[in-house]
Amino acid sequence: MTHRIAVIAGDGIGQEVIPAGIAALQAVTERTGIELSFTRLPWGCEYYLAHQRMTDADAFEQLEKFDAIYLGALGAPGVPDGISAGLILAIRQRFDQYVNLRPMRLLAGIASPLANRNAADIDMVCVRENSEGEYAGAGGRIHRGTRHEVAEQTGVFTWRGIERIIRYAFELAMKRPRRRLASATKSNALTHSMVLWDDVADAVRKDYPSVEYRKYHVDALAARMVTHPQTLDVIVASNLFGDILTDIGSAISGSLGIAPGANINPERRYPSMFEPIHGSAPDIAGTGVANPIGAIWAGALMLDHLGHRDLHDRVVAAIERVVATAPVRTPDLGGNAATRDVAEAVVRAISA
Ligand code: NAD
Ligand code: IPM
Ligand code: MN
Repeated sequence: MTHRIAVIAGDGIGQEVIPAGIAALQAVTERTGIELSFTRLPWGCEYYLAHQRMTDADAFEQLEKFDAIYLGALGAPGVPDGISAGLILAIRQRFDQYVNLRPMRLLAGIASPLANRNAADIDMVCVRENSEGEYAGAGGRIHRGTRHEVAEQTGVFTWRGIERIIRYAFELAMKRPRRRLASATKSNALTHSMVLWDDVADAVRKDYPSVEYRKYHVDALAARMVTHPQTLDVIVASNLFGDILTDIGSAISGSLGIAPGANINPERRYPSMFEPIHGSAPDIAGTGVANPIGAIWAGALMLDHLGHRDLHDRVVAAIERVVATAPVRTPDLGGNAATRDVAEAVVRAISA
């Protein structure tokens, strides 16, 4: 069986962590009869500087033919972030990847920046709305360049959009032992959008009486992730809230280089996209020391989505074994290993 994967390594450390992920994916599929055929697309900021666009004009037609998209990171000095990030947001919207699934887990052997926390304390997954909300793109600027300039950025929240993400989160919570769902709201200040969010959650929760549902204002939830992470299991959040909460979740799991993300179109009408949650990290790009764990783990999520839960588990177990036993760590985790050293250790653990 062959799965066709579009690879957009992109910019900065995307170019360093994606080869690590591909090495792990090749190792785990070896002699399984499952083949991943990778097509590398040279898209990103360099492409933009040469062609005044981030991708070929028919990018979506090209991407649509693949079974999945494996993405590193986009963004480089010299290109406005709104243009580079715009490609990611366009793919998520165009392919209706409305679920952004982001596990955040402290792996045994990694020290959390939170004092006295161990692996059992941090094990959560964020179900982030990925198609509308604060990132809908509605709005504009008028009277540009004058002191009368006005900018409007309108959040767009729909009952259907909220319902499908909250339902997905409840379904996921049902499958996890603790069966807890925390909804990130802000209905005290955002009295239109977030009150609708809460109303939809109240309607949907009736179908899931065995899930312990609680809503938290997002500011208090951010604090709770730091002070009481062990009380959190599944978190459902709007697009912007989920973005911020998952950087916190990854950081308390050891580093921004740890957490993976899956941008999923659950109906499978379009390819889903898998990426680490971090960006292109221009401050360390080119030095070869980026942590590849988030990218490798994202590759594992891709295998799971393609129907290979067993291979997902083998990759995650290999990551776990490396961080628990080997002294191979990138500088963000307090070590001095290179990206390639970690990739090789994970490949060895997969093949052992
Ligand atoms: P960032 O995630 O790139 O970096 C934030 C900090 O975390 C930096 O100090 C960086 O060195 C560190 N870091 C991130 N990933 C790491 C890793 N794997 N190993 C070790 N350290 C790591 O966020 P930023 O600085 O806000 O953004 C930089 C650029 O990336 C911007 O252009 C932004 O728009 C873009 N960005 C892209 C994505 C994406 O492609 N999915 C995500 C976030 C940001
Ligand atoms: C992420 C990134 C993106 C987001 C940016 C690049 C638009 O921060 O995937 O977390 O905000 O979704
Ligand atoms: Mn982010």
